[in-house]
Amino acid sequence: MRKIIKNGTIVTAADTYQADLLIEDEKIAMIGHDFDEASAEVVDAAGRYIFPGAIDPHTHLEMPFGGTVSKDDFETGTIAAAHGGTTTVIDFCLTDKGKPLQNSIDQWHAKSQDKSVIDYSFHLMISEMNESVLDQLPSVIEDEGITSFKVFMAYKNVFQSDDGTLFKTLEQAKKLGALVMVHAENGDVIDHLVKKALDAGQTDPIYHALTRPPEVEGEATNRAAELTGLADSQLYVVHVTCEQAVSAIAAARKKGYNVIGETCPQYLVLDQSYLEKPDFEGAKYVWSPPLREKHHQEVLWNALKTGDLQTLGSDQCSFDFKGQKDLGRGDFTKIPNGGPIIEDRVSILFSEGVKKGRITLNEFVNITSTKIAKTFGLFPQKGTISVGADADLVIFDPDVERTISVETSHMAADYNPFEGMQVTGQTVSVLSRGEFVIKDQQFVGKIGSGRYLKRSKFGSQTSSQEKLYQK
Ligand code: URP
Ligand code: ZN
Ligand code: ZN
Ligand code: ZN
Repeated sequence: MRKIIKNGTIVTAADTYQADLLIEDEKIAMIGHDFDEASAEVVDAAGRYIFPGAIDPHTHLEMPFGGTVSKDDFETGTIAAAHGGTTTVIDFCLTDKGKPLQNSIDQWHAKSQDKSVIDYSFHLMISEMNESVLDQLPSVIEDEGITSFKVFMAYKNVFQSDDGTLFKTLEQAKKLGALVMVHAENGDVIDHLVKKALDAGQTDPIYHALTRPPEVEGEATNRAAELTGLADSQLYVVHVTCEQAVSAIAAARKKGYNVIGETCPQYLVLDQSYLEKPDFEGAKYVWSPPLREKHHQEVLWNALKTGDLQTLGSDQCSFDFKGQKDLGRGDFTKIPNGGPIIEDRVSILFSEGVKKGRITLNEFVNITSTKIAKTFGLFPQKGTISVGADADLVIFDPDVERTISVETSHMAADYNPFEGMQVTGQTVSVLSRGEFVIKDQQFVGKIGSGRYLKRSKFGSQTSSQEKLYQK
């Protein structure tokens, strides 16, 4: 059925203006005024913003990790994402050394296809680079439309790759038109610091942070950036947390290296002291890289403003406090790493960023949607409000004041790391390809209605005038 959304204020990465939207056949058919309302569903959005659906470029749904499996799957995770205004997620497909990449991709399709309520895509983890992997990459890109590869520089003996693998992946990505993503922490040094801490009987959650100091993130970020420059390739640094890493990215970008940085809401508003909460509650805030001392937050905000950091991911990887985080009582290395963030990512950036004057409304849309679509080969189908784009839309009330709580959130985990935080702004309704998923804050979507998105090659859709590494 045709839909008309009228009287709202449309916000894109470039513009803020009043107009009505006509939606037909999953797409935005027209933007204008005075559309024929006969046989259309008319939605009044007076007093509300209309954003392009947010894109979460960094999720781990139903992922085996730390001796357990992350709690939110593609059903609960994408329902929660939609409640928060996210209409596309890009999840990390893990791979096993020596096994066909397609096996892992098939596993990820099996977990998602009958569950996701919004559109989704995958990044692929690369843990080795040899003849066999080289042979498989073209079909990963051409047939699966997976155009981003993830390399872990941390999690020694679990996911960690060596520098040779990272460098060869950068070379291949350049050749094939893919983007390399890194988890940048020096896993070897962390491994040493962790052993020393455990030998000294330091087992509480806070030692998770103290054994992964900002220097190991800064060093790894700098190393990855320099290798990117050497390979003349392209790099996306996930979950940047600290001044040291921001400086490394800024320096690389100044040299003209194609390096993009992502941060996450948890690093913008929470700090290292949360890991010291009594009764093992600090475990709720254990993820990697860890929360930092408070002074790093203003560095991250400033980098989002200047464009040295360009996107916001959630790094959603949720575990229950009871039964999962618990695994690490008496040994912080056994606390599963990750948190439930997917639902509150957009709200926190709006409230703490736009409402507090740190970024503009248009920068907010760029950081949560447009820049992500361009970076990951989804633009202009996703990431903007324009004629012909998918009708993935968020109707947002900018004035509602509310308190974040596990009681009202839709994620499956048994706690919310932002519990008690006051925010301004609320997602009211969300459309995915022209159909309501959320209507007046109620889930009205269909389980499994989300579609798998094959993505374009890196940089192939943006003009040479718009270098992706520009803001
Ligand atoms: O602690 C985290 N971030 N868990 C998810 C995996 C990763 O490193 O992104
Ligand atoms: Zn990571
Ligand atoms: Zn510091
Ligand atoms: Zn992650």
